[in-house]
Amino acid sequence: MEWGMANRLAQLIQPDGHALFLPIDHGYFQGPTRKLEEPGKTIKPLLPYADALFVTRGVLRSSVAPDNSKPVILRVSGGTSVVGKDLANEGITTSMEEAIRLNASAVGISVFVGSDYEKESLLNLARLVDDGERYGIPVMAVTAVGKELEKRDARYLALACRIAAELGARVVKTYWCEDFEKVTGGCPVPVVMAGGPQVDTELEIFEFVHDGMQKGSIGVNLGRNIWQNDFPVAMIKAIRAIVHQNATPKEAQKIYDSGKKSEAKKP
Ligand code: 5RP
Repeated sequence: MEWGMANRLAQLIQPDGHALFLPIDHGYFQGPTRKLEEPGKTIKPLLPYADALFVTRGVLRSSVAPDNSKPVILRVSGGTSVVGKDLANEGITTSMEEAIRLNASAVGISVFVGSDYEKESLLNLARLVDDGERYGIPVMAVTAVGKELEKRDARYLALACRIAAELGARVVKTYWCEDFEKVTGGCPVPVVMAGGPQVDTELEIFEFVHDGMQKGSIGVNLGRNIWQNDFPVAMIKAIRAIVHQNATPKEAQKIYDSGKKSEAKKP
């Protein structure tokens, strides 16, 4: 692997081989998502616990201090919205030149396997990989399901992850599911897990993150279930403990509960 590519991947994936990416890119199709209305405020207390930020160029430039940041995975696909016809009809929104200018450690793009725009999104990925490899910039592929959350099963996610890896993604972001080893086992590049919409209890998150790590994931790219939580710092600390310290779900719950008490005391 070229030095630049290896160096950028090392900025993202920590020496223990694991990673906690904090995505705040949701506004690119959802607008001012709850608790991410002011992204700068949302991320301020969370940044120390994240290994990288997944973010669009607009929010990066407007809301992230260049002298107090973390490695950046630049979201470079988009062009659709939740109120539009089809979320899968994405294009590439940001050039590789811009990614270099913004000092991105990687770029991220969604692929929509099985959708009406399967071919376009996969060819976008392949083109982005060509551009990224030219400059030593890794591509993270996001196996997106749009509004069809029920697609999140091992058969579908294993298919989507493998295709993304075959087309040259250096990292794949997907969802956790039952039999997750079938997803990681069929994907020859590192896999990180997203959280999806906020769930009812923190323990559910700790359990799936732990299960996914045991089954071969290198970490998370987990947003709403961190920053939409009432105690986001406690939440990110607990998840970080699972990712980097091999904490069990019960241990993570304890970290969350004690963090929650001190966070609640803060004005
Ligand atoms: C949005 C994304 C997000 O980065 C990804 O879904 C992770 O966030 P969350 O944990 O909130 O699902 O790709 O398009």
